Amino acid sequence: MSMQGPKTKAAFERASKVMPYGVNSNFRYWGDEDTLVVSRGEGAYVYDMDGKRYIDYRLGFGPIILGHGYEAVVKKVQDSIGDGTVFAWTTPLEIEVAERITRMCNVDKVRLTNTGSEATMHALRIARAHTNREKFIKFEGCYHGQADYFMFSTAGTNRRMLGSRRSPIAAAATSGIPHTISDYVISLPFNDFEMLEETIEAQWGDIAAVFVEPVLGNAAGIFPAPGYLEKIRELTEKYGIMMVFDEVKTGFRLANGGAQEYFGIQADLVTYAKAMGNGFPVAAIAGKEEVMMTIEPGAMAHGGTYSGNTVGVAAAAATLQILEEEPVIETINQRGQTLMDGMDRILTDADIPHVVTGAPTMFSLFIGGDEMPMDFRGYLKGDGDLYEAIAMELIERGVQPDSDGREPWFLCYALSEEDVAETLTVFEASVKAVKW
Ligand SMILES: Cc1ncc(COP(=O)(O)O)c(C=O)c1O
Repeated sequence: MSMQGPKTKAAFERASKVMPYGVNSNFRYWGDEDTLVVSRGEGAYVYDMDGKRYIDYRLGFGPIILGHGYEAVVKKVQDSIGDGTVFAWTTPLEIEVAERITRMCNVDKVRLTNTGSEATMHALRIARAHTNREKFIKFEGCYHGQADYFMFSTAGTNRRMLGSRRSPIAAAATSGIPHTISDYVISLPFNDFEMLEETIEAQWGDIAAVFVEPVLGNAAGIFPAPGYLEKIRELTEKYGIMMVFDEVKTGFRLANGGAQEYFGIQADLVTYAKAMGNGFPVAAIAGKEEVMMTIEPGAMAHGGTYSGNTVGVAAAAATLQILEEEPVIETINQRGQTLMDGMDRILTDADIPHVVTGAPTMFSLFIGGDEMPMDFRGYLKGDGDLYEAIAMELIERGVQPDSDGREPWFLCYALSEEDVAETLTVFEASVKAVKW
């Protein structure tokens, strides 16, 4: 059965004539029958072209921290852009946003940019320039955006491509990347203390950075084992390697100060995007004074015509102000915990082996095993097909998580207690539908 009503189907067919697969990002293509075209969003809901309402837990892959079309954010953008949007000079709004980020995230300096991919790309350049080394470590299952250097051992990579656990392969997740790029990428299983230590001790003179999503926001919200982030911090400090927290998903979501605050660890560089603008394109590279000051006119480039543009920056100013002044994360945490507990109970009652992973503001369901997966390989041992079957039943009934279990359930401030109750009722019916 197709997810598309007649108007949605017609719009998708129109889109497919002019856009490859009818989408502007491959992750949005769910097949010709199940790719939606959305007419609008409001608060915690999205509506497709046929007017069908969904409680939205994809939230654009995470940015919507407050709600779709959140009035105070929209108004701030509307009020600001009438005076122009790009000037190739600094604006007071940029200063305000940078001040808020330094205060909220306990970082010394910030440069604004537009997308997570741009932020990670620049963070890698800063790390290389700062250390005068070229390789970097990333972890299997972590996604750091679309730049060639990062598209390894992430979405689009299957178990076989990753090679043996003893000698993991940095597996290209797409064609179109020059072969030699992989020479710079060391891809390791997450949460493996020994392998991290061995690798760094053997190769530290070549390693500029360790990039990590502190919680695997692109692999079912897998958590760091106790002491693992501390181990990365200890080893990177010892060997002069930059520790880079990619907080594109965790930033302004796990806590106002992101994973740095949540885990009590200071990285050298941090990247933010998504939640910082509640769905407007704005991102940041931030970090310690001496590392960020590697950026130097004439010596180490960071730039961008739209970096600090008023559209994104006005949205960030409003979003961060609300996060600072209202109990946003606290509220989302409570609702998320209710969902995690309820889904856990329903799956247990249905005798479906599972583990609820992640944090309440971005949690996931690992289906098909009852041991907490500690890395991407562990996640891939789960039953992705059963997860997808449950997700499709949910969507049919108007609750929308992603159909790919790697992608967490994201929550927003606009999600009410009634929405949570409705979600659990629908979840129970969906689990029953796949089970019986
Ligand atoms: C952790 C992480 N880093 C970087 C990115 C790339 O961000 P963008 O899609 O804004 O380029 C993403 C996107 O999902 C992400 O989850």
